[in-house]
Amino acid sequence: TTPAVIFPKPTPHTQQAYNPADAFTSRWTRADSRQIAAMSDSTVPAGRNSMPSWLTMPDIPADFPDTDPNVWVWDTWPLADLYADQLSYKGWEVIFALTADRHAGYSFDDRHTHARLGYFYRKALPPGSPHLPNGGWIYGGHVFPDGASDVVFGNTPHTANAEWSGSTRMMNDNGSVSVYYTALAFNRNVSGQDITPATAIITRADGKLHANRNGVWFTGFKKHKPLLRPDGVMYQNGAQNPFYNFRDPYVFIDPAHPDQTYMVFEGNTAGDRGARTCTDADLGYAANDPAKEDLQTVMNSGATFQKANIGLAVARNRKLTKWEFLPPILQANCVTDQTERPQIYLKDGKYYLFTITHRSTYAAGIDGPDGVLGFVGDGIRSDFLPMNGGSGLVLGNPTDLNEPVGAPFALDPNQNPRTFQSYSHYVMPGGLVTSFIDAIGTRRGGSEAPTVRIKIADDTSTLDTTYGVMGLGQYGDIPANRRTLPPYFR
Ligand code: FRU
Repeated sequence: TTPAVIFPKPTPHTQQAYNPADAFTSRWTRADSRQIAAMSDSTVPAGRNSMPSWLTMPDIPADFPDTDPNVWVWDTWPLADLYADQLSYKGWEVIFALTADRHAGYSFDDRHTHARLGYFYRKALPPGSPHLPNGGWIYGGHVFPDGASDVVFGNTPHTANAEWSGSTRMMNDNGSVSVYYTALAFNRNVSGQDITPATAIITRADGKLHANRNGVWFTGFKKHKPLLRPDGVMYQNGAQNPFYNFRDPYVFIDPAHPDQTYMVFEGNTAGDRGARTCTDADLGYAANDPAKEDLQTVMNSGATFQKANIGLAVARNRKLTKWEFLPPILQANCVTDQTERPQIYLKDGKYYLFTITHRSTYAAGIDGPDGVLGFVGDGIRSDFLPMNGGSGLVLGNPTDLNEPVGAPFALDPNQNPRTFQSYSHYVMPGGLVTSFIDAIGTRRGGSEAPTVRIKIADDTSTLDTTYGVMGLGQYGDIPANRRTLPPYFR
């Protein structure tokens, strides 16, 4: 038998708001993130869910329908405005997703280097109406003309390029659309090894949405404007760490600063890979906490390789084509390597920062399921309080934290077969949460997961089991909550 582990108290966080341009960066500390493992039941039979059900995605059926027979889909976001309201256009709902050809001869796990931004549409129905079992999304094709996103890299040597996540904003409800996304270039030899680190550039392309009674389509997106490259000062770059993360722009207006437009994105703390720069503040323990850790011991464990942050940038012109970095709003040094697809979500005067992370990217000594995290404060830059008992966990996959992590393509035999069932959660108006299916047992996904709903109240969230069937809603239910131009059809 293993000795009982004792857990620390979470770090106090005031939620106090700072000016968005201030140099204050909140910390998701080791003391905070260890609250996740503190909620795990060490006595469950192997392969069950050791986490509380109110923080767990319900089991997705293994016989889930494919969103589309020809393309895999993963990270998904809606057509939206700068307030994250989800828009219908002339009676159509439109979503954007990373896509890859299911029949091109590479595996689902190799999709990232082939990712193209695709779009899907379906008729907007009154809230709660049933759609086709797979969500009823019609694949419209690639958003960008072939080759357009490659031009961003100019003469930087590369062997392949890809289009990674971001956000799509319709301006003035008139079909003019700006896509903010991550342009990726890879420079690899024939065996797939990097010759030089991948290049990630936060990029914008503009196009026009058209609709008639048969569907929607896009024109434009020919010119792609590079907006931000990691500076190596606040945001780690490829020279400092070939495995740096810099992506997933989410563009929004903060009602407290309505004259500005901001962007949150995924980054890493700048500095050389593995630099011994974690501090006692990153650990976050009270001096007399019996479960506190020694800083040097933590750094000796290799935790210095995991230093995620969530970045903030501000637009410097009205056209939102010039952007400037501000200091990160959250850092997770010696906690996790990735805080992906961040979003700012407003409710009852509070600012919620949601982000996704993997079990496999946590630092040594920190554990939690694949899923979505939440932080709450009084502004976009706050001393963010991790939700749910200071842990930060909002929804995780059914996972047995007592058993090894495994991998989506190589499940650990003792692990819950749904530990990778879904990922890339995106929180929508009304607390609806969409995600994609990665692996359920040996069946791989590449389809939209059933939508679920969380009830958000102050610094807590709970899975709403009254939604759908035992908490599972329709597959890929990503509804518009605001209608722009009226429908063509009745
Ligand atoms: C999340 C993610 C994003 C990235 C994309 C690449 O699932 O890692 O951060 O943009 O997938 O496929």
